[in-house]
Amino acid sequence: MKNKKTHLCAIFGLLLLPAGMSAQENAAVSGNLALTPPMGWNSWNKFGCNVSEDLIKQTADAMVKSGMKDVGYQYVVIDDCWQVSRDAQGNIAADTQRFPSGIKALADYVHSLGLKFGIYSDAGSKTCEGRPGGLGHEYQDALKYAAWGVDYLKYDWCNTSTQDAKASYANMRAALDAAGRPIVLSICEWGKHQPWLWGKEVGGNLWRTTDDIQDRWEGKKEWKPGNCCSYGVMDIVDVEAGLYSYAGPGHWNDPDMLEVGNGGMSDTEYRSHFSLWAILAAPLIAGNDLRNMRSEIRDILTNREVIAVDQDPLGRQGQRVRKEGDLEVWAKQLSDGGRAVILLNRGNAAQKMVVTWEQIGYPDHLNAAVRDLWEHRDLGKMTGQFGATVPSHGVAMVTVRP
Ligand code: GLA
Repeated sequence: MKNKKTHLCAIFGLLLLPAGMSAQENAAVSGNLALTPPMGWNSWNKFGCNVSEDLIKQTADAMVKSGMKDVGYQYVVIDDCWQVSRDAQGNIAADTQRFPSGIKALADYVHSLGLKFGIYSDAGSKTCEGRPGGLGHEYQDALKYAAWGVDYLKYDWCNTSTQDAKASYANMRAALDAAGRPIVLSICEWGKHQPWLWGKEVGGNLWRTTDDIQDRWEGKKEWKPGNCCSYGVMDIVDVEAGLYSYAGPGHWNDPDMLEVGNGGMSDTEYRSHFSLWAILAAPLIAGNDLRNMRSEIRDILTNREVIAVDQDPLGRQGQRVRKEGDLEVWAKQLSDGGRAVILLNRGNAAQKMVVTWEQIGYPDHLNAAVRDLWEHRDLGKMTGQFGATVPSHGVAMVTVRP
């Protein structure tokens, strides 16, 4: 039976199901992706449309040299503007001025460093920057991406008119699977159609939950009058707080790419931004210039202990367990039964803060080991609570282990 099916596929289905695979076998292609939140870099936050093969190669080099690869960063993703047109057969064409060696050669280079390669397109007729979108070319593009060696696709939502979001992303996942290469699917429809409700079902590995991040601590800002809004770090965190139940291995809420190192926030705020993304089990996609990082920025992005919280195999997204005005306690259950805890001070002056064991799901009589993940220091065994003085816009981040 199986052989017969494969045979028929080979005759009639070559375009849709290359290598004679059944739909079930196809789904298995992408079944084990992103079991922990994806880590990597994306060009958009720092470089916008100013992308080129030199930038991508230098960034991949820097990802290795800076030690980021060693702590788990993997995907090097070109965002919008690498593509300029389609040829007479409808094949997507890269900008030959900016990518003179072609995308395949670039992917090969990234792979030669032991890293993975990602690219960007859009579910609609055009990307957000007006480049050709994927609509009507999903299977053709997926085959091209697979031939190039693409490992990660960010699929945007501009110029989608009346398209159905769930069906559009399901279609692209089916196309990627039919191409036979395991490709992470990053759904980027900004939370407009509640992708946390259907993203997993359609084979999305991560889904954006808000409009774009910008490099600031808090406050939404209209893009232009009447067109709302870019988000600050605190605005995104407030949305994520209600979405913890939807995240898990293979399917993550995506609070957008990191702004750490882009210059709009203090190092204290960047440390908070990174800590919160980790406790949210968010994809850690750096968005700064890796070729020119201050050591303080590199130390934030490569903090192994904070990254371990993000990458914990249980795959729980942390929850806001306490909020009293500007003071918040966040907690994430870890696979060994421990907790990661953040004391976050959103206010304008330093504050003494306390977390009780009861707030993080332990009995108050419990004696537990507390370790500071930014000081890299064991603070000893504590009973019932932990307290710290937290600077304005800062965090204390610890693990608590019975
Ligand atoms: C949208 C996305 C951004 C980025 C740009 C590119 O705004 O949300 O992350 O990909 O498009 O044009």
